[in-house]
Amino acid sequence: MNPADPRPVIAAIRDGRGLDAAGAALIARGLADGSVSDAQAAAFAMAVLLRGLDGTGRVALTRAMRDSGHVLRWDLPGPVVDKHSPGGIGDTVSLVLTPLVASCGAFVPMISGRGLGHTGGTLDKLEAIPGLRTALAEDAFRRVVTQVGCAIVAAGPDLAPADARLYAIRDESATVGSIDLITASILSKKLAAGLDALVLDVKQGSGAFLRGSEAALALARALVDTAAEAGCRARAYVTDMDQPLARAAGNALELHEAIAVLKGGQGALRDLSLALSSACLALGGGQGDAARALDSGAAAERFARMVAAQGGPSDLLEHPERHLPSAPVVRAVPGHGRVAAIDTEALGHAVVALGGGRLHARDRVDPRVGLAQLLRIGEEATPDRPLALVHAASEAAADAAVATVAAAYLLGDGPGPGPLIRNEVT
Ligand code: URA
Ligand code: CA
Repeated sequence: MNPADPRPVIAAIRDGRGLDAAGAALIARGLADGSVSDAQAAAFAMAVLLRGLDGTGRVALTRAMRDSGHVLRWDLPGPVVDKHSPGGIGDTVSLVLTPLVASCGAFVPMISGRGLGHTGGTLDKLEAIPGLRTALAEDAFRRVVTQVGCAIVAAGPDLAPADARLYAIRDESATVGSIDLITASILSKKLAAGLDALVLDVKQGSGAFLRGSEAALALARALVDTAAEAGCRARAYVTDMDQPLARAAGNALELHEAIAVLKGGQGALRDLSLALSSACLALGGGQGDAARALDSGAAAERFARMVAAQGGPSDLLEHPERHLPSAPVVRAVPGHGRVAAIDTEALGHAVVALGGGRLHARDRVDPRVGLAQLLRIGEEATPDRPLALVHAASEAAADAAVATVAAAYLLGDGPGPGPLIRNEVT
C-alpha cells in the first residue's frame, strides 16, 4: 500500500475510528498538493459530516490544514489579535474593531474574505474605497501592520491552501454544514495568521448561517475549544442576526455606517463593536479602554491611517460622500405599523439581486447599491418613516428590491427585539 494512500484514513472516519494527527496531515497535504483526488476529498468530507470527529480529530484537522501553507509569525510590541464572524447582514464590525483595537495597543493582522451568498464580506466593503488595495504581498502586509497596528487584506494563495480546495469541494458535495469542517475551515485560516488571541462572533437568527440557537452555540463551543487546543486563546459570542446589525446593507452604504460609528454614532453596530473589541483586548492582555478610544477619536484616526496605508484617500473620514460611490436611484419602501420580525436573509438576497453581492465567487459587486435606513424590530413605519431606502443601479432593480424588502418585514405585534449578545463561550 502506498504510504500516502488516503483511503485508510477515510475508512477509519467512516467506521467511527476517528482521525489522528498523521491521517489529518496526509489529507491536508494531499488536498494542497493534489495527491488527494476530488472523489477522495468529497468522501472524506461526507465521512466527517456523517460520523463527526471528536475533539482530538478536530484539532488534528485544524492544525494540519493550518500547516498546509505558510504560517505567519510576528514579533511585535503588543498582542496579536483578531475577530472572526462566519458572516451576517449589515455586519460592519470588522471595519470598526480593527482600528479600535489597534488604537488600544494591540496588533490586528486581519485576513478577510469576500461576500458569498446572502452575507457581505469585509473586503468588498473596503474595496468600495477608491484606490484601496487588499491584495497586499506579505512584506507590505507586515509593514502596514507594524507601522499602523492593523491592516485588512485578502488571503494569498499560500494561506491554508488545503481549506481553499476542501471548501470548494464541500460546496459541490452537500458537506458545507458540518460543525467539524466549519471549525477546521475557519480556524485553519485564522491560526495561519499567527494570532495570540481570537474573538469569534457566531451569528444566530433569521440572517445567520446557523438559524437555531443550539447549532450556533455548538459551533461557538467547537471554535473556542479547538482554537485553545491549537495554541490560540479564544472566546466566542453568539449574537443576534434576527435583524441586520447596522441600519444599512451594501458595500459603500455599510462603510458610511462604520465611519459614522467611528465618529461617535450610536446603535447596535457601536455596541457590538465595543463588546467584541473589549474582548479582543482582554483576551490579548492589552491595556486599552475601547470606549475611550472610540470616543476620543483615536480609533477614527487609526482607521484613516490604515485606509491611507492601503492606498485609499487620506481624507475619507472628513469627506466620505466625496469618495464613496453612490447609486443613481434611491427609493423608499413604504409600510405602516410596528416591525414585529424581519426575514434578514431575504434582505441579504435583495442586496445580492441589486448587484451588491455575489451568487458565484467570480461575480463582481456594485459598491453603490444596497439598503439604508433599515427600520429595526419594535420601530414604527409611518408615511414619513419608510421601512428602508433602496439604493439601486436602475429603476427596474429598485422595483424588485422594494417588493423583496416589503415582503421581508413582518408588521404587527411581536415580542420586541431579543438581546444583542445571546451567549458567551470562554
Ligand atoms: N466560513 C469559512 O471560512 N468556512 C466555512 O466552512 C464556513 C464559513
Ligand atoms: Ca457572537
